Amino acid sequence: MSSLADYLIANIDEVPSPALVIYPRFIEHNIRTVGEIVGGYEGLRPHIKTHKMSQIARMEMAAGVTKFKCATPREAGMLASIGAKDIVIAYHIVGPQVHRVIELRHTHPDVTFKVIADDPGAIALLSEACQAAEVTVGILIDLNTGLNRTGAQPGDPALRLARLIHDAPGLTFEGLHVYDGHVAGDTDELRQAAAQTSIDLATETRSLIEQAAIPVNEVVASGSRGFDVTARQGSVDNVSPGTWTLWDTGYGDVLDFPFEWAAIVVSRVISRPDKDLVTLDAGNKAVAPDTVAPHFRILGLDDQPEFLIRNEEHQLLRWPKGHKPPRVGDALYLVPAHVCTTVNLWDEAFVIDDNGNWSETWPIDARGH
Ligand SMILES: Cc1ncc(COP(=O)(O)O)c(C=O)c1O
Repeated sequence: MSSLADYLIANIDEVPSPALVIYPRFIEHNIRTVGEIVGGYEGLRPHIKTHKMSQIARMEMAAGVTKFKCATPREAGMLASIGAKDIVIAYHIVGPQVHRVIELRHTHPDVTFKVIADDPGAIALLSEACQAAEVTVGILIDLNTGLNRTGAQPGDPALRLARLIHDAPGLTFEGLHVYDGHVAGDTDELRQAAAQTSIDLATETRSLIEQAAIPVNEVVASGSRGFDVTARQGSVDNVSPGTWTLWDTGYGDVLDFPFEWAAIVVSRVISRPDKDLVTLDAGNKAVAPDTVAPHFRILGLDDQPEFLIRNEEHQLLRWPKGHKPPRVGDALYLVPAHVCTTVNLWDEAFVIDDNGNWSETWPIDARGH
């Protein structure tokens, strides 16, 4: 794991704050590392919701990634525009979003788009719309293996949906989609056991559907919590973690993978309201507030501060005893607890080159919806 010295920006005086900064050398390390864990890029369908950036998707493609997963039609459009040919939109398409998917099919006729579904009514509407527009869209059944966020129950309920999709005009049945965001354990062994339990349900469901003579072209499974285990299953074609690209403390504190922080928020001290109080310019608009405090870790500080008031622009901290507080104007390097939602707050990222200089900015071109 790299230390503060590896993140220091030589021309920091030119970088305004707060700012999202990214380090391509650490992204490259993470791309190499995920390839080593998965055993190459053939079985990897990385989720791009973490970075939402065409520049990083291009780096993944340069390494050998040919398939992607994303959450929104905007992300799918960005991927198609840079030459990705096989895209799963891992989100339930309802209401007018149906037309955005059809539009994508029209705009990029040479790209395969697959969406996920778990509801017979939504599947019927999608089929109707695709038929009317004279396009075909691939469907993966979203399977609930324990997260209980979305998804059909494994086994017979999923088989019934597979039959429905298989017979629906305008749709092709492609396979199964699993997100195992519930997988956890006090030890790595327990985590791996939980990932195995989750994926076993998909394996059994795949067999059931295949026994009914419905071909399953793809099972795509897992985020960062279980992808190492699911990548080893013969029943899984692709794994789809996303956070590994930039990594964050939310996962880094509980998962034992050798990824590096590749996105940092640079913040400055803007006030010292009392002896042990420090106010940063990194409030909810700079670092995503969708985790409980601490929302970030300050690089180079052994004991972390206490999080006090947090507003749009301000983060008030009580500095840890025995550590000299920074002065107004000092720059701090913050590792977000949740990097995906933090990146989504920014229009652009400051890119730090191999010599530690801010050299260019990259747009977060697929942020938002
Ligand atoms: C459906 C789905 N697939 C994959 C991922 C990527 O997983 P992770 O962030 O654990 O790497 C997510 C993340 O939220 C997700 O919602």
